[in-house]
Amino acid sequence: MRSVIDVPDLTLGELDRLMDTAEDIIARPDQYSELCHGKKLATLFFEPSTRTRLSFEAAMYELGGHVLSVTGAGTSSAAKGESVADTAKTVSCYADIIAMRHPKEGAALVAANNASVPVINAGDGGHCHPTQTLADLLTIRREKGRLDHLTVGLCGDLKFGRTVHSLITAMSRYEGLQFVLISPDELKIPGYVEKDCLKKKDIPYTQTTSLEQVIGDLDILYMTRVQRERFFNEEDYLRLKDSYILTPEKMKKGRPDLCVMHPLPRVNEISVAVDDDPRACYFKQVLNGKYMRMALILMLLKEAGRI
Ligand code: NCD
Repeated sequence: MRSVIDVPDLTLGELDRLMDTAEDIIARPDQYSELCHGKKLATLFFEPSTRTRLSFEAAMYELGGHVLSVTGAGTSSAAKGESVADTAKTVSCYADIIAMRHPKEGAALVAANNASVPVINAGDGGHCHPTQTLADLLTIRREKGRLDHLTVGLCGDLKFGRTVHSLITAMSRYEGLQFVLISPDELKIPGYVEKDCLKKKDIPYTQTTSLEQVIGDLDILYMTRVQRERFFNEEDYLRLKDSYILTPEKMKKGRPDLCVMHPLPRVNEISVAVDDDPRACYFKQVLNGKYMRMALILMLLKEAGRI
């Protein structure tokens, strides 16, 4: 049974096909509106979410399917001490596919190892978030017309930001990429991402604390929120939370074809005044995420022989 826990679970060819399917859904939504008729998606969200859960659910409805939903650990048997493994076995009895978000790194893998239906990781702690990356890849392909030969700046909380880890893992598979990693010293990317991904594949990257100094070099600027819930103490969070704030003033230094992205939610790191700039792509990312989740649900249900 194939699940998607992180981006390497999908080949480059599969990523391309998922993006092609998403484009086709955008062009011909009626052709897809009954493909999951009678099928059920379970969304198990043990951490807060707006976009990821609702986009999975909207995706399933737009494919003609149904949704079963758990929101918040406090309302399910997790609060009674049920293990992720038992929850996965149980939900497999009711649903054809599961999307799960959990505060613990590795929880989605445990679920996948115990479920008898495909599991999609909708974020496991500070580890990874592959379906946000699917949204990001489609956005970059649509905005820039390519996924190779790009200078990608990632800014903010690169340590705890799981979307950053999955995006670097995915983009480092394309030719001619270089990364500019912009963060306070305390929030640099984890050693394992640097070692297993960037260094191993000999991908050029630079690390800096200054957004202003590098913004003019970038094709993509991927802003992120400082992940308050993963900090060990509030003092550190308060000190670091406003390290970067993208303003119209700073945007003046960016290229005319810069693409500004953010997985959202935004707290303070992009001023709302930037939203009217045609280079702001973060709400397009939200919509692209729904289409990519539709494409992924279809792919996994087909492979599992359920549609
Ligand atoms: C992200 C997440 O949950 O990791 N949100 C999302 O899914 N779009 C980013 C974040 O919470 O900062």
